[in-house]
Amino acid sequence: MQLPEPHPDALAASSQLRQLIAAEIAQHSGWIPFSRFMELALYAPTFGYYSGGAQKLGRDGDFTTAPEITPLFGAALARVAADLIAQTAPQIMEFGAGSGKLAFDILSELGAMGVHVEQYTILDLSGELRARQEHLLRDFPQVVWQQQMPHAYSGLVIGNEVLDAMPVELVVKTATGWQQRGVGIDVGDNGFCWIDRPCGMEATALVAQIPQADALPIGYLTEVHPAAQGFMYSLADMLQAGHRLHGQGSAAIFIDYGFPAAEFYLDQRTQGTLMCHYRHHAHPEPFYLPGLQDITAHVDFTAMAQAALDGGLELLGYASQAGFLMAAGIGELLLRTSPDDAMRYLPQANAVQKLISPAEMGELFKVLIVGRDIDLAPALLRNDRSHRL
Ligand SMILES: C[S@@+](CC[C@H](N)C(=O)[O-])C[C@H]1O[C@@H](n2cnc3c(N)ncnc32)[C@H](O)[C@@H]1O
Repeated sequence: MQLPEPHPDALAASSQLRQLIAAEIAQHSGWIPFSRFMELALYAPTFGYYSGGAQKLGRDGDFTTAPEITPLFGAALARVAADLIAQTAPQIMEFGAGSGKLAFDILSELGAMGVHVEQYTILDLSGELRARQEHLLRDFPQVVWQQQMPHAYSGLVIGNEVLDAMPVELVVKTATGWQQRGVGIDVGDNGFCWIDRPCGMEATALVAQIPQADALPIGYLTEVHPAAQGFMYSLADMLQAGHRLHGQGSAAIFIDYGFPAAEFYLDQRTQGTLMCHYRHHAHPEPFYLPGLQDITAHVDFTAMAQAALDGGLELLGYASQAGFLMAAGIGELLLRTSPDDAMRYLPQANAVQKLISPAEMGELFKVLIVGRDIDLAPALLRNDRSHRL
């Protein structure tokens, strides 16, 4: 691969992470599940991609996200948030807040609207990003950080591109049945190699969730999402406990790239959706420079919605990012800058175009809203596609 050469310090850190992962593989008789490899590559203390010092987000990082593209994304979410917290409690909890930009934009817009947020709680696995969030959000005293999901919570929960950053399991269909793809040590290459094993009970149960798995072709490689499903169960438990304790409803909004199960597990998608991002180059090689690149997979929104339902929540809405942002009023927000002021208007219009164009993020990104005792605004419901899940 022709990718930009990392700094020698970054290469040294990656080599330490490689040794740490290799030691864990050796301890486990030469094989770890891919989900564990991904967890270590992204979140191992000090050297994992999200734990270490890489810039990660934005133009100088490896990938960009909607809040980094334009403040109008957060402003549009703030409009929806204002309606939702009026029905629950004046509290917002954000998972995986990245640079803190989304929190900044939501709180700024809500402040301008005169909507009071008592507490804005951030949970992020990355201590390095938390330091950046603390700096950016230093003028918002209502922002607090927590290490773990509380037992009970009522209010609004949000997460942008968090579910895709949770470790996935790889499974592959062979002539003798489904196998779980794990990681071993490639002795000759001083790197890692793929090793497939028959699925254990847990992987078999995950494969059973794939629609029409029996009809998929031999050689079909795909992901299943136990960590994200587990996260959705825990979220449901937390919001249910909040309801029991405070008698208040809640809503949770997750925005990410992905599909309903029927589109995720298409016959033609024979190599899954696993993708790595290094300095704005996307490639499918997760063993490349561990700790220096992001590793992600698309989200199975059917599995996410089902986990929330199993946990007792309701499915409130599911839309494309374009449908959601248009319903949230991003067009009006853009027009706060006059089109006559071309110098200011055009960059903002381009950014909004990126978020809503079907050729860019508008259709690939989806918005899932779950919760209980909440009425979504009619405009949001007009673009609802829950029936596709
Ligand atoms: C792709 S980044 C997205 C950052 C930000 N939301 C944005 O849109 O720019 C993924 C973020 O999710 C965080 N993350 C992953 N799993 C998490 C979990 N289980 N709980 C909290 N944060 C998590 C990572 O540390 C990282 O900050």
